[in-house]
Amino acid sequence: MHPSEQEFAKLLDYYNVPYLYEPRSFPLRWEGNRVVEMFSPDFYLPEQDQYFELTTMKQSLVTQKNRKLRHVRELYPEINVQLLYRRDYVRLLGKYGYGPLTDAEVKGLGHVLFTQEQIQARVGELARQIEQDYAGQTPVFVGVLRGAFVFMADLIREVSALAVETDFISVSRYGGGQDRRVEVIRDVDVDLAGQHVILVEGIVDTGMSLRPIMQHVQAKRPASVEVCAMFDKRARRVVDVPLRYAGFEIPDEFVVGYGLDHDERYRNLPYLSTMSVVEPKPVPQR
Ligand code: IMP
Ligand code: MG
Repeated sequence: MHPSEQEFAKLLDYYNVPYLYEPRSFPLRWEGNRVVEMFSPDFYLPEQDQYFELTTMKQSLVTQKNRKLRHVRELYPEINVQLLYRRDYVRLLGKYGYGPLTDAEVKGLGHVLFTQEQIQARVGELARQIEQDYAGQTPVFVGVLRGAFVFMADLIREVSALAVETDFISVSRYGGGQDRRVEVIRDVDVDLAGQHVILVEGIVDTGMSLRPIMQHVQAKRPASVEVCAMFDKRARRVVDVPLRYAGFEIPDEFVVGYGLDHDERYRNLPYLSTMSVVEPKPVPQR
């Protein structure tokens, strides 16, 4: 009914939070048997058992709504209803990563596949595995730029039980399909001969870029090379590359965030999101 309601609905959709729009009306005043005043909170979140009423910026309306809400709480003490002010709403958007992004950019995002908390927990598990497997050794983490830099930074800080070395390799990709070519445009500085190398990738999709990178690294005669990828789009694999460590398997969808980009944007999102290809669903009408 109102643009701010639509924005709020988009936010809920984005985070896969189930909601109902104005599912219930609460009678507030009667004249005889006739209900003369009702309150229909804008949103109900069944998982939280929580109603939300959004307010505009108009102070006169806010005062009126506050009065109404007090009345609701007296008559229906069992329901949880919260008034969401404009400033709460803006803060909520900021907290969930919309803050630094403009409206135009928000439109490009689909929904969250893995939250920051889920990602951090998984990175910790990968680090524990690596610590066990490389106990007593000093592995060299080689990040494949640019997609790996966020993951790499988190991963090495979780690997606290080992001495580690770090370096980066940068590749450019040309063409598509079977003609895809990969060229190393920035090589590692560290001498990898005789070292235990862990190649760190943000995402492995077809596997076509990782294979030549592995061959490139192998030519430097390291003692071992293993791959650690945060996201594994296994359904799309064309070239078989052994992933010794994989964070999450993800469906065949284009994703952004946690270092992964769409046209160099969205790498700064602390979570993994899909991109939306369609306009967001309209708010259900009464
Ligand atoms: P592959 O050679 O097909 O495995 O592609 C790997 C590279 O493509 C990754 O290092 C990313 O740079 C990019 N890539 C593949 N899938 C995605 C995605 O869903 N989002 C962002 N980048 C992707
Ligand atoms: Mg990219």
